[in-house]
Amino acid sequence: MRQQIVAGNWKMNNTLSEGSALVSSILEKITHPKGLVVIAPPLTNLLSVGVQLNGHEGFHLAAQNCHHETRGAYTGEVSASMIAEAGATFVILGHSERRQYFHETSEMLAAKVNQAISHSLRPVFCCGEPLEIREADKHALYVETQLREGLFHLDEASFRKVVIAYEPIWAIGTGRTASSGQAQEMHKTIRNLIADQYGAAVAEDTTILYGGSCNAQNAAELFGQPDVDGGLIGGASLKADDFATIVNSLS
Ligand code: PGA
Repeated sequence: MRQQIVAGNWKMNNTLSEGSALVSSILEKITHPKGLVVIAPPLTNLLSVGVQLNGHEGFHLAAQNCHHETRGAYTGEVSASMIAEAGATFVILGHSERRQYFHETSEMLAAKVNQAISHSLRPVFCCGEPLEIREADKHALYVETQLREGLFHLDEASFRKVVIAYEPIWAIGTGRTASSGQAQEMHKTIRNLIADQYGAAVAEDTTILYGGSCNAQNAAELFGQPDVDGGLIGGASLKADDFATIVNSLS
């Protein structure tokens, strides 16, 4: 069965005390989420947020990244096993900010996906095109390449653990959201690619999130599209009221 998910990607925001206050407020406002609620705090907050979420049905913890090797001399990095043992059940991989600022390649991302799966973490695999690719009408092929290179090496059982987040780069943090029609069109394209690769039943069960300036005002319309199964939320996940409205917009 396809799961509906709203995931909050805090990025590099919130100290321990700020994060703790935000989670308390979120838990007060969201008591019975319709889908899964995933919180992705910075690594310094992973353990403490996990403790706060403990016992709250439907709430899950995510990291924003993991390294592509199992262990070793990689100063400043964190492995999938460390994240899993700290209590995370999801990990965001391939966010456009990681691809752009930290030069993550498809080859690295495929290895990160493998690390996540082998440590029982569900990857939230991000894909999405920059503005010039959208304007050249090459976005479908661009995203297809990202999926083929980063994900489609998985066998069916492993692929079933994956959540996909379609995040057009021109919409991230810009206030310029994809229209619900643009989101639906790309989500349908992605689902068709999954069907070709893994079969219709797997495609039907795969959760595909929209990300990019999704907020309290536009979430309901986006989530109302047949192939949009929730959202990956950046800026609006930092405000408890807005985040609660977005979670309550799941249809
Ligand atoms: P935004 O970020 O909601 O602030 O646009 C989304 C994301 O980067 O996941």
